[in-house]
Amino acid sequence: MAELPGTTDRHIDALLTLLAENSTIVISGAKIAKEIGVTRQCLWRWIEKLRALGVRVKGHPRTGYHIERMPDILVPQMLSHRLYGTPFARRIYHFFKTDSTNAVALRLGEAGEPQGTVVLAEEQTAGRGRAGRSWASEKSAGIYCSILLRPPVPPAHAPLLTLVAGLAARDAAAEDLDSLPDIRWPNDVLVSGRKFCGILTEMHAEPDRIHYAVIGIGVNVNQTKMPADLAAIATSLRMETGKVHSRLELLIRLLRHLDRYYNQFLADGALPMIRRFAQVSSYYEGKRVRITTATESFTGTTAGLEPSGVLRVARDDGRGIEAVLSGDVAEAS
Ligand code: BTN
Repeated sequence: MAELPGTTDRHIDALLTLLAENSTIVISGAKIAKEIGVTRQCLWRWIEKLRALGVRVKGHPRTGYHIERMPDILVPQMLSHRLYGTPFARRIYHFFKTDSTNAVALRLGEAGEPQGTVVLAEEQTAGRGRAGRSWASEKSAGIYCSILLRPPVPPAHAPLLTLVAGLAARDAAAEDLDSLPDIRWPNDVLVSGRKFCGILTEMHAEPDRIHYAVIGIGVNVNQTKMPADLAAIATSLRMETGKVHSRLELLIRLLRHLDRYYNQFLADGALPMIRRFAQVSSYYEGKRVRITTATESFTGTTAGLEPSGVLRVARDDGRGIEAVLSGDVAEAS
């Protein structure tokens, strides 16, 4: 794995995994020290570092340590165990804080890291959204995850990759919600009309070949409120259900669904993705929308997807069907 400044220390990773996977028992200091590869004398320093991160570790005189409350930290080793058999188990980079996981993953793509590399952060200081917007990334409240892929498809098929990720996020979140989530083309995932998940695909490509693509996924999970400017249009799983959700479990489901959809896409092409989108998105067909692109804004009614994943919209102004490559889609009355 590449040496990246700022990634979470492997001792912290190992210590958290060990304590969390044995959360019901007290483990001896000697055993912990051996398993994480430090001396018994300096184990307490690592325990202190963990406590400084907000993890409640209880020390028992003579017997050892146990974790008082299982922290919801996206621990790489734990994720890796649970993602065994998928391409996402092998290289997981975790940061407590970074600028943007997409920026990190793009650098890793440039440096030749393999497909399936995952970059995670508990907090982003410059989270990026679509169309140059920012992505609010409150510490440990949401999932901020970027996945490096090297898909053997032309760049024109990039909207399909975004669709694949949107479907995976939608299916993963559905299990945490009481009402069914919707996908607003291409990949905003909504519940009760408000967005809780966004996806930003960035890539490095030639006209006929993608060198690497980074799929950045942001999910609002346990935020208790949204920034004032987003309150009317955004939400979190917790705000919708009144419950705290495990980011770890949600991320595991999301990456498993992504593995399944991505393999299906590579094996069988776009059609199964488009069919699935038609099943789960109210935006597929017959939805009144306002489309805003870099050059214009118009209203119309959605009329399915092109085989490349592009949205078809029957314009109200009588200029026929428009193929929308990218742009903002909003529900219109
Ligand atoms: C959108 O505008 O809807 C896309 C938001 C994408 C946010 C995610 S959070 C993880 C990854 N890193 C980033 O900087 N952005 C994406």
